[in-house]
Amino acid sequence: MTQERYIPSHVAIIMDGNGRWAQERNQMRVSGHRAGLKTVRKIVTYAATLKIKVLTLYAFSSENWKRPANEVSALISLFIYALNREIKSLNKNNVRLNIIGDISRFSEHLQNMIINAQNLTKNNSGLVLNIAANYGGRWDILQSAKKMAMQVATGEITLDEMTEGRFASAMCMSEFPEVDLVIRTGGEYRISNFLLWQIAYSELYFTDTLWPDFNQNLFDEAINVFNTRERRFGGLHNKEHLC
Ligand code: FPP
Repeated sequence: MTQERYIPSHVAIIMDGNGRWAQERNQMRVSGHRAGLKTVRKIVTYAATLKIKVLTLYAFSSENWKRPANEVSALISLFIYALNREIKSLNKNNVRLNIIGDISRFSEHLQNMIINAQNLTKNNSGLVLNIAANYGGRWDILQSAKKMAMQVATGEITLDEMTEGRFASAMCMSEFPEVDLVIRTGGEYRISNFLLWQIAYSELYFTDTLWPDFNQNLFDEAINVFNTRERRFGGLHNKEHLC
């Protein structure tokens, strides 16, 4: 009898390789991002089918502002387009949309769209879809540290009460299960200031496949590899304590 595979509760994905995908086809980089958006749609649908609880996608990092202005504005336009186009269908499919990151740098129009989309879907009980937009792992740690510092400064808590648990609860996504698996497409082996605090014990999976070519089968493959990993969370191997 085959053993049933364990479906991770929380999967986070660094969607890399859109630009190279387009260049390989002699197309503009933005057409790679458009193709990437189609993959987002497929992977979100599949994640919901698999009953993954939380899917977190790195759409726009706090460093992406350094790209040429036309690419930045294309990425932001694509985000607005996707929000407009997909929000009804996400809501119908019981998906809760949540944006993580410093949205204050976006236009008022986009900030309102984000707030409305979150409000519309906030009571949905299916897949939680976190989109990281103007997100950076260091920014997230810093904003938590500032909240804690303020609580100490106002006497709400003492310095000793600034515990790991309190700190964690001020980080983005603290209300969701821990990240089990991080997938990075596009052949680079780094985290690029995506989740830092939250992936302390996550399994990491890297694939050379460019994001627009990522699909259900490759997602399955990542989950299968995740199933071969033994997670010890700093403890011992199951049998090691017998020695
Ligand atoms: C990295 O590829 C990808 C991004 C910076 C943006 C990801 C955006 C999408 C998948 C489309 C929009 C998604 C949403 C949720 C609206 P890259 O440009 O770094 O590729 P390269 O490494 O080949 O240059």
